[in-house]
Amino acid sequence: MQWSRTMNDKLIIFDTTLRDGEQSPGASMTRDEKVRIAKALERLRVDVIEAGFPAASPGDFEAVQAVAGAIKESTVCGLARALDRDIDRAGEALKEAESARIHTFIATSPIHMEMKLRMEPDQVIDYAVRAVKRACGFTDDVEFSPEDAGRSEEDFLCRILEAVIDAGATTLNIPDTVGYSVPEQFGRMIGNLIERIPNSDKAVFSVHCHNDLGLAVANSLSAVIHGARQVECTINGLGERAGNAALEEVVMAVSTRKDVFSCQPRLNTREIVACSKLVSNITGFPIQPNKAIVGANAFAHESGIHQDGVLKNPETYEIMRAEDVGWSANRMVLGKHSGRNAFRSRMQKLGVEFDSEESLNAAFERFKQLADKKHEIFDEDLQALITEASSEAEDETVKLVSMSVCSETGETPCATVTLRVEGSEMTGRARGGGAVDASLKAIESIVHTDSSLQLYSVNNITSGTDAQGEVTVRLEKGGRIVNGQGADTDIVIASAKAYINAVNKLMTPAKRQHPQAVEV
Ligand code: KIV
Ligand code: ZN
Repeated sequence: MQWSRTMNDKLIIFDTTLRDGEQSPGASMTRDEKVRIAKALERLRVDVIEAGFPAASPGDFEAVQAVAGAIKESTVCGLARALDRDIDRAGEALKEAESARIHTFIATSPIHMEMKLRMEPDQVIDYAVRAVKRACGFTDDVEFSPEDAGRSEEDFLCRILEAVIDAGATTLNIPDTVGYSVPEQFGRMIGNLIERIPNSDKAVFSVHCHNDLGLAVANSLSAVIHGARQVECTINGLGERAGNAALEEVVMAVSTRKDVFSCQPRLNTREIVACSKLVSNITGFPIQPNKAIVGANAFAHESGIHQDGVLKNPETYEIMRAEDVGWSANRMVLGKHSGRNAFRSRMQKLGVEFDSEESLNAAFERFKQLADKKHEIFDEDLQALITEASSEAEDETVKLVSMSVCSETGETPCATVTLRVEGSEMTGRARGGGAVDASLKAIESIVHTDSSLQLYSVNNITSGTDAQGEVTVRLEKGGRIVNGQGADTDIVIASAKAYINAVNKLMTPAKRQHPQAVEV
């Protein structure tokens, strides 16, 4: 293998939670939510944060602009199709960034070129070269991706990649867009590209793997063994369809197996769990308990034999330490007697700035109400509180006024819910299989969304029976999917809040473009 720019000892971590992660159905995030996640990624010391696709909508543009203005330690990246107007939008959105990258792409597999783009291969190369040159007018940090590279012909990839390096691309990202590759073959392909492209030493080779066959992390790691020095990934493996390679798994695999990997990421791994919980809270995608690294059971030893071994020497069954990824960093941060200044300064540490005294007072009031019910308040409680406050501020159409439920052995549970819908109070009553079922039916009897419930899940935010329950409700209507979240120390109320949050999202029209849709 030839000695190239990619053969150094640093593994660049490129996080695309805010872009590809947001393409998961129902995971859309507001501008402020994106800024909060971006700050958490910065604390994690991610090298590059892909903040979004600025040409998708004015809202997406503003979100990328806000992230670019807020982040100082990581490079902020904007995605653009290989079209002048997309690149100009990305360049404009990133103007304030301390360090900016434009990521442009065009499909290169025979099926995508013929059926989706309806372009000849030479035309695709022309578009790619033109896009990279235009992006270089905004920044010298330009990344190019041949979309669906996993199903593209190697000879054609060599031609287009050589041409875009000559045009100024400094990172070449090889996406397995449809998750079709398998580790040995994908790794070999990366090695071949590095070896065959004459100017490959002038760029960093990167990979971006989707998880359709459950191989995204394995494919990414195989590529690293064969010379890739950037991995694109998302927190909790969020992303289009089955998701992207999970950042926490890639990072911990590489750092746990230093004997296998000759390059290392420079991350603060102790921030992983906090970041994972924040992304789950904001997007409403719960983390499965047995999920590697960040699942609640990832470090729990159930069997007696394992427990005995771990007590004698943790290394008998533990290959990493829970505290190295941020478990047990779960400290009480505030309590009932904490004042406004302590609250404000903890919020600042979490990346939350209040734009007025009123918004600080409103959030502080919520905090006090929570502290009356729950004596120890953790960072996760504060994050949930802010998520809820910001979603209520934006989606005013339906609000919970009050509710009561009756639940008694031998009786059918019933609920009475009063909502404010566009200013008018309305009350609904219903019976159901349980208190939650009755409450959601009572809400539906008022709002009549006629949507179908695709997911209902409850997780405790912290430990203890006084912990807040975090509920996610996923609704589908006419092909559109939205996630609603709610948190409360009472899970029936949390469920009602989550349902109302989802209803409000359904009532807001979605109008953004998908980056992989064609437009010429
Ligand atoms: O999966 C993919 O191909 C992408 C590109 C836009 C890089 O997300
Ligand atoms: Zn992707």
